[in-house]
Order: sequence, then structure tokens, then C-alpha cells
Amino acid sequence: MTYETILTETRGKVGLVTLNRPQALNALNSTLVAELNEALDGYERDPGIGCVVITGSEKAFAAGADIKEMSGLSYPQTYLDDFITAWDKVAARRKPIVAAVSGFALGGGCELAMMCDFILASDTAKFGQPEIKLGVMPGAGGTQRLTRIVGKAKAMEMCLTGRMMDAAEAERSGLVSRIVPADQLVDEALKVAATIADMSLPIALMTKESVNRAYETTLAEGIRFERRVFHAMFATADQKEGMQAFVEKRPAKFANE
Ligand code: HXC
Repeated sequence: MTYETILTETRGKVGLVTLNRPQALNALNSTLVAELNEALDGYERDPGIGCVVITGSEKAFAAGADIKEMSGLSYPQTYLDDFITAWDKVAARRKPIVAAVSGFALGGGCELAMMCDFILASDTAKFGQPEIKLGVMPGAGGTQRLTRIVGKAKAMEMCLTGRMMDAAEAERSGLVSRIVPADQLVDEALKVAATIADMSLPIALMTKESVNRAYETTLAEGIRFERRVFHAMFATADQKEGMQAFVEKRPAKFANE
């Protein structure tokens, strides 16, 4: 499939999407968001894909929503088009998605990275919500996801001042899972994604769903949800295979059943 603003490839059981608008530091215009969703739709449908990696360039994961596209919009247009709904689809995916972030992840770029299941950052990564400098605020989940991830103090400071966090601060704050040297970022993300894709697909999806539940409900309800799903896993062939393989001291071979 050929796209205008992204590159896609399949590496074994991993789908790799590279944001590709170098002239605009991968600013997320409506074409890019539509193409990203089309690619993710394809990976969701493909039973051979177990995990997806989204990355950008070494200079920029994405420098935000496309300011030139947004600047002339009126309130009725933004309300009626509700273009941010298309962005939300990324967060609603069932298969695991890893964001591999190098360079700038600003505004909507930071929000897109936070919609993924976790972020691997290169040592050059810079995260920020600079929307306030443009006379707006984060609009694709930034005020909510960033606050839940890094806590109120840092989220409030970042959203109110627009200052950027470097990779080390992002790791300390729990925004990224790990820092990787820039020249190894995509390889490392593909390796992690391949590890995930080698697990049982239904179990990986149930695990993602359960972890995400922690953001949406009380501890007691979340624990109850986890317990129900955990019990249900004993109805899968993959649970039998996984535990049998351990007992027999061999690698498990999951059939996604
Ligand atoms: C459109 C952008 C862009 C953006 C960069 N470019 N960011 N175009 N939208 N978000 C374009 C520039 O206009 C320029 O093109 C080219 O990319 C290179 O950018 P420079 O500014 O020349 O690069 P540099 O000096 O290295 O500075 C990098 C930067 C800066 C610090 C990342 O580009 C910057 O501050 N960008 C805007 C970041 C931002 O405010 N993001 C939040 C957007 S609002 P030309 O052709 O002009 O030379 C948002 C809201 C989301 O995301 C809400 C939900 C939808």
C-alpha cells in the first residue's frame, strides 16, 4: 500500500508505521491521521500481526497537529468536523502499539505517543505540550493522559508553560518505558514488538485491555475485571501450552486459540 504521508512495512508479525512528512517535522495533518488509521485498520484485521510500532524520523516523531491546517478553523468547523475523533481511534486499537520516539514529540505528537501502549524514547527525544503558546491547549488527550502519567505538578507546568522534557526527565517521570541510543531506537522497538507478537494474541489483547482498565475505573472494579479475565484465560489452549511448555522446559508455541 502506498501512502502520501506515512511509510508502512511488515517485519514478521510486526507492523511498522513511519510518519513521513519530513518537510513539516511530521506535523499531523488530516491526511496523515487518516492514513495512519487506515494502516492500523489493516494491521488490526491481519491475523498475522501481533504488534505495531509507530515511529517518526530522527529529528521528529511529530511536531504536533498541523498548525497551518488548523489556523483558519472556526469554532463551528472544529465542532462539526470534530477532527480529533479520528485521532482517538489510535487509542481505541486492540492490538498493542509501541511508540518509538526520537526528536520532537510536541503537542499532538506527544498526545499521539501517549495514545500508544508505551513509549520507547531515543536519548534525543523531547516531549512537550506547547499549545498554550499558540493560544490553545492540548486537545487530543494531553491534559488528561499526561496528568495521569506524570502527575499534576509536571503536567500542569508543561501545559501552562509549554516547556519541553528531555528523554531523561521523561523516563524519570514515567512517560517513557526506556531510553535507547538514537541509532538503535527502531531496531530495539521492533525487537520489543516481536517479543510481544510472539505471545498469544488473545492473551496479549486481554492484558492490554486489563492494564487500560486501571485508567478508567476504581481499584476494586479494576481488580474484579482483572480477576474475571484471568479466570477466562484458563479456557484458552494457549494457557495450556504456555504452562505445559514451562514444565517441559521448552519455549511455548502459541496458536492464538
Ligand atoms: C505545521 C510545522 C509544525 C506544525 C513544524 N512545522 N512544526 N508545520 N505544524 N506543528 C514546519 C515549520 O513550519 C517548517 O516549515 C518546518 O516544519 C521545519 O520547522 P522549523 O520550525 O523550521 O524547525 P526548527 O527551527 O528545528 O524548530 C523545531 C520546532 C518548531 C521547535 C519543533 O518547528 C516548532 O515549535 N513547531 C511547532 C510545535 C508546536 O507548537 N506543536 C503543537 C501544535 S498544536 P516551513 O515550510 O515553514 O519552513 C497541536 C494541538 C493538538 O498539536 C490538538 C489536537 C488535534
